[in-house]
Amino acid sequence: MYRDVSACSTYNYGDALYWDERYIQEANCGSFDWYQRYSALRPFVRKYIPTSARVLMVGCGNALMSEDMVKDGYEDIMNIDISSVAIDMMRRKYEQVPQMKYMKMDVRDMSFFPDDSFHSVIDKGTLDSLMCGNNAPISAVNMLGEVSRLLKPGGVYLLVMLTLMSITYGDPTVRIPHLNRSVYSWKIELYIIPRPGFQKPADSASSAKSFLEPVPITEKGQLPADYVLEDPDSHFIYICKKTGEPIDLSNKSPYSLSL
Ligand SMILES: C[S@@+](CC[C@H](N)C(=O)[O-])C[C@H]1O[C@@H](n2cnc3c(N)ncnc32)[C@H](O)[C@@H]1O
Repeated sequence: MYRDVSACSTYNYGDALYWDERYIQEANCGSFDWYQRYSALRPFVRKYIPTSARVLMVGCGNALMSEDMVKDGYEDIMNIDISSVAIDMMRRKYEQVPQMKYMKMDVRDMSFFPDDSFHSVIDKGTLDSLMCGNNAPISAVNMLGEVSRLLKPGGVYLLVMLTLMSITYGDPTVRIPHLNRSVYSWKIELYIIPRPGFQKPADSASSAKSFLEPVPITEKGQLPADYVLEDPDSHFIYICKKTGEPIDLSNKSPYSLSL
């Protein structure tokens, strides 16, 4: 479950051909979820995304995330990926599951969908991949512009990223300026959770803190001066809420963050 996209210079994560080859090579290995499985992300997904929401999963790969969400009651998930190999495999696998649809699409150009098409967009590792590719800043601007366009007012972009503070890979001071552009009108919250399997050192002096509490960040993305990042390779969950009149989803659940 834990793979590292810090190896940007070794693998071309921004390139469709790279992903096609990889999904062909791994065709017999079953599905794979980058970073975290749904079970770990569920408190955040359930808090911010009602089960009746129309959800767009960008860069779905061959992950189980959407399947697990459907098992948890989600009714309408559109999955896109730049890899036709991944999309063909997933479409075949889930042809009997009407709640999930699959389309090959580049997240930088989703003009197939009209404005305000989705209540929620979920991104687990896709912006990270684009940040590894050629013209990364332009790709990020194009992708985030499209995500913003497709979100309904009140809708949520749930973005899961790797952070490698040691090399400032996903450091929020690097990421927040991308997300905080005024054209998107996003109100941003950050949660930080450790990698699956991370063991706190026995002599760790840090206080017990709940990963279900948002971490305050400055406009520039700085963490509080006294914040202790127990796992330096934690996963950051950005909740970017599009401001504006929220849409009324009748079965909005009163779900609160709990495990
Ligand atoms: C790190 S993997 C994450 C896969 C999946 N979201 C998960 O959590 O396991 C990144 C995915 O993004 C896809 N991808 C990369 N660039 C893309 C683009 N421009 N448009 C759409 N998908 C892209 C890749 O094909 C790959 O499936």
